[in-house]
Amino acid sequence: MRIIMVVGARPNFVKIAPIMKESKKYSKMDIILVHTGQHYDREMSKAFFEDLDIPKPDICLGIGSGSHAVQTGAIMAAFEKICIDKRPDIVVVVGDVNSTLGCSIVSAKLHIPVAHVEAGLRSGDRSMPEEINRIVTDAVSSIFFTTCREANDNLKKEGVASDKIYFVGNVMIDTLIKARDAISGNEKPLVKNDEYALLTLHRPCNVDDETSFKKIVKGISEISKKIPVLFPAHPRTQKKIREYRMGRSFISQVPGKNRPICLANAVNLTGPLSYVDFLHVMKRAKLVFTDSGGIQEETTVLGIPCLTLRDSTERWITVHEGTNEIVGTNVSAIVKNTNRILNGAWKKGNIPRYWDGKAAERIVRVLNDFRAESKERK
Ligand code: UD1
Repeated sequence: MRIIMVVGARPNFVKIAPIMKESKKYSKMDIILVHTGQHYDREMSKAFFEDLDIPKPDICLGIGSGSHAVQTGAIMAAFEKICIDKRPDIVVVVGDVNSTLGCSIVSAKLHIPVAHVEAGLRSGDRSMPEEINRIVTDAVSSIFFTTCREANDNLKKEGVASDKIYFVGNVMIDTLIKARDAISGNEKPLVKNDEYALLTLHRPCNVDDETSFKKIVKGISEISKKIPVLFPAHPRTQKKIREYRMGRSFISQVPGKNRPICLANAVNLTGPLSYVDFLHVMKRAKLVFTDSGGIQEETTVLGIPCLTLRDSTERWITVHEGTNEIVGTNVSAIVKNTNRILNGAWKKGNIPRYWDGKAAERIVRVLNDFRAESKERK
């Protein structure tokens, strides 16, 4: 059986790593890894392949940045050629980025079954590009791998038959557990301070709007007088900081290999960190502010308080069962919730079902059975 696995952007690499590793155990699977090139900077792409031991992609489409239509269109045109040439039996897509969307539409139109890993998550907020990507990808997929029961319910409400949905757990957590165990007892002191908070921000609704971005930074700067904040910024965020001339709101830090940084009582800005370095700093953080989807899940598993700087989430399980709260971008709400954490009045949370490091095992077993079934049908 020939399977094309698609990756394009940073969170995809974290999700595909355990699936690629597990597939190796099945000798009859011919896996082709396609990288669309949506993310291309070393620290957004290659560094993740190295940290997570992902094999070099078999095919790189080199698409790069562009508007949504330009980027998705270019991915589709290039991926169609690959599918026609390679004739895969299944295409596996992960997450909710433009590469997920583009490649799933192409495959479905060529009658190649699409397996969507992380299917069924819904925020209900269609102003976010990822929500459109999730809805459309699920509309054209044939196999649905979900991380929680709520995702199963969402899919059923949209008319997906129950026998196409597999509640397998969370591949991002497979990667987290493996990396956490690997670094345990061997802490990398990237930050000298005993206590600090971690901030990540890259959603267009937060950073592409000057007023919103400045408002959030004002709130976090207020907090940083009490607890220093480390802010590893995504390239899109860095670009906006330059465009809005916000440099003076931050202290620049460059974490060296063997030189831990000492954070000032301010918002300490760095470039994006590698997977392992980010895990080291996240594990030791007192709390995390984020607008990322994956970090809401990772903090739940690590038991670290998380304040999501958005008005919605597609990952409600991290709120209902984990350590996450959706606080929006209102300064007083951010400050109030941070104080609750600093005063020790935060929920402990539990680890959701099947977030146990074995999601990839379950996924690859289903893919293998799909092969057996389609052979029988032929
Ligand atoms: C994408 C995903 C988002 C995911 C995020 C993780 C979509 C719609 N969004 O958002 O869901 O959470 O990845 O990082 O697919 N850039 C660089 N170097 C890079 C990549 C991007 O400089 O390696 C800059 C470019 O200016 C680019 C901008 O970042 O235009 C945005 O990149 P893009 O891939 O379009 O979206 P992200 O914001 O990264």
